[in-house]
Amino acid sequence: MDFFAEFDGLDHRQVTSRLLAEGWTVCGLGEWATVWRSPGGGLAARVCPFEPGYQVFVELCRSLSGHRLLPRIEFDAELSGGGRVTVMEFLYPSEPALHEKASRLWEAGEGDFGAVRAEAERLDAEARASLPFWGGLGLNPHNVMTTLSGEVKLVDLYFMSGHELYAALLRDPAAFAEAIPAERYAHLPEIAFIARNSTPDEISELRRAAAVVQDSGRYSA
Ligand SMILES: Nc1ncnc2c1ncn2[C@@H]1O[C@H](COP(=O)(O)OP(=O)(O)O)[C@@H](O)[C@H]1O
Ligand SMILES: [Mg+2]
Repeated sequence: MDFFAEFDGLDHRQVTSRLLAEGWTVCGLGEWATVWRSPGGGLAARVCPFEPGYQVFVELCRSLSGHRLLPRIEFDAELSGGGRVTVMEFLYPSEPALHEKASRLWEAGEGDFGAVRAEAERLDAEARASLPFWGGLGLNPHNVMTTLSGEVKLVDLYFMSGHELYAALLRDPAAFAEAIPAERYAHLPEIAFIARNSTPDEISELRRAAAVVQDSGRYSA
């Protein structure tokens, strides 16, 4: 789809502007990302200003492409400044009872749930060894969604150690830039968690810390 192909090279603000201009509407807010529903209702675009980990979930969906428990991914790309956009099938929130049932099947690790869990664990181990501030794998109530016809889909199965990540950036911006290249966190202070929870002082502190290495000339978008 050309509309999505044109996202390449843009940053999360430009992608968000395009979605808004085309009539997409906000349907979800996570710790990091804002999720937009397509005008026709069939697709969801997850836009993240700073993305240290969602690519592992995308990898899981691609590795088990067509699996009945995972969403269909239409488009996925890194964005300028370290964000990410992932367009997938639109899903509905689930009832608590469905989350409980899915958690039991996940724990039992049988059948289709077992297949997803095995591959998810393999990628989790890889990510733990290679990605800084990796958190792990888990199934919280928001991770269990459904299609219009009620089929269960698992989303966003991995998490990062967010607090550890912010603390590390504030403590030593130069050392942080050794762990994550500066051009990959140019927009970190714009993630949803910060927008919802941080005080103005905390936001300025994060902005200052995130800008230390950017402003030294290694990133200039
Ligand atoms: N495919 C989807 N269709 C509809 N809503 C979604 C979809 N994926 C995520 N959401 C909604 O957006 C919220 C945030 O998405 P998520 O990927 O969990 O972001 P984060 O990684 O920031 O937590 C979810 O809790 C859910 O409500
Ligand atoms: Mg989430």
